[in-house]
Amino acid sequence: MTEVEASQLEHRLVLRSGRRHRVLRGHPWVFSNQLEGLPDALVAGDAVQVVDSAGAFVGRGYAHPNTLIAARLLTRDPDVLVEDRLIEERLVTALALRERVCPGRRSFRWVHGEADGLPGLVIDRFEGADGRPRVVLVANTAGMERLRPRIEGILRERFDVMAGFWKCDSRGRALEGLPDDAGSGWGVEAGSEPAWCTEDDGLSIQFEPHGGQKTGLFLDMWDNRRHMSPALASGRVLDLFSYVGQWGLHAARAGATEVVCVDRSQAACAMASQNAERNGLAGQVTVACAPCEDYLATVRDGSLDAVICDPPSFIRSKKHLSRGSAAYRTLFARVLRKVRPGGLAVLASCSYHLNEERFERVLTEAAKWANCRLSVIRRAGQAPCHPVPLWFPEARYLKCWLVSVDVL
Ligand SMILES: C[S@@+](CC[C@H](N)C(=O)[O-])C[C@H]1O[C@@H](n2cnc3c(N)ncnc32)[C@H](O)[C@@H]1O
Repeated sequence: MTEVEASQLEHRLVLRSGRRHRVLRGHPWVFSNQLEGLPDALVAGDAVQVVDSAGAFVGRGYAHPNTLIAARLLTRDPDVLVEDRLIEERLVTALALRERVCPGRRSFRWVHGEADGLPGLVIDRFEGADGRPRVVLVANTAGMERLRPRIEGILRERFDVMAGFWKCDSRGRALEGLPDDAGSGWGVEAGSEPAWCTEDDGLSIQFEPHGGQKTGLFLDMWDNRRHMSPALASGRVLDLFSYVGQWGLHAARAGATEVVCVDRSQAACAMASQNAERNGLAGQVTVACAPCEDYLATVRDGSLDAVICDPPSFIRSKKHLSRGSAAYRTLFARVLRKVRPGGLAVLASCSYHLNEERFERVLTEAAKWANCRLSVIRRAGQAPCHPVPLWFPEARYLKCWLVSVDVL
């Protein structure tokens, strides 16, 4: 397709004048109130070209007529079209970055949406014992939904990805008017291969790409487990919200003698038990399928050497910030009471709206409620396969801090 042909297929969106739009400084989003208006014919996912109020080219991407984010840009080069070559280049660049910043790692987030120049797309890559990559993909927007066939074709032909599942059931899709679609893909029949296996810093981890949560594994935590689990290497350790047990298993492998993984999902608990078995750690690790709140009530105060607390997000949108922050504070306070003086806690939040400053405040208040003093040993976030461009701070969401717990 030539540029002229492309421009015939693209709608033209004009930025309002006199505003300091972030899109002019590298941000990929254009909000509906930043535009002069939207063409009547614009349909969700349509290709667009964004120009400034003087008509100068700003970027090219896709748009949605009914969402707050009206357009997302994929390129700022007027000579580049949104076609196979651009997508392939983005995938090559993203993979090269992972190979540099996550050397030797066999499972990682290959594409982190806007941060990798592919807005609305997530690709998590898993490598099994056969050494061939498989992927779980998420298209969160109508524009990315349209690019699915291209993405799939490139992954199969150019990158020899042997199997892929689209796991498109995010909340964001509903906002875009897209139906859930979890299960289509290639390489393996949906459900015919319920469990996949991947290596995780020397542990063999089984998980369910289909039935499991998110893309099957939480690939944002591996770096934290790698750096923090050596500190969890003795005594009694509680892994709250354990999913398939990775934190608990890392602690056990490091030397913790008595580890309990707690999750309310039966499927996750079954996987956690299997993972303990397959790594020869079943003697140290037990799995309790229960709400963490109930399990905590059975634990004696001051009886744990360490605890990991990695709950689901309590703050889905900005309006839940105050209530969600209170929920974190209450939970963390209950958790901290269970740790012996001199013990350790890994406290995490994946809520985007709870920024680092607020997270610190929550921890300070939780310590007050638990009548203890906390020192931060390691202040970490998401693994390096989840990059955060300075021009796109929205890519940052995870806080994971290792703290030591002392008497007041
Ligand atoms: C963020 S994920 C945990 C990821 C895990 N720590 C890891 O590193 O892979 C949150 C987990 O909490 C579980 N969960 C949610 N609410 C719960 C509750 N009230 N009690 C126990 N588990 C819960 C979910 O089933 C899910 O496995």
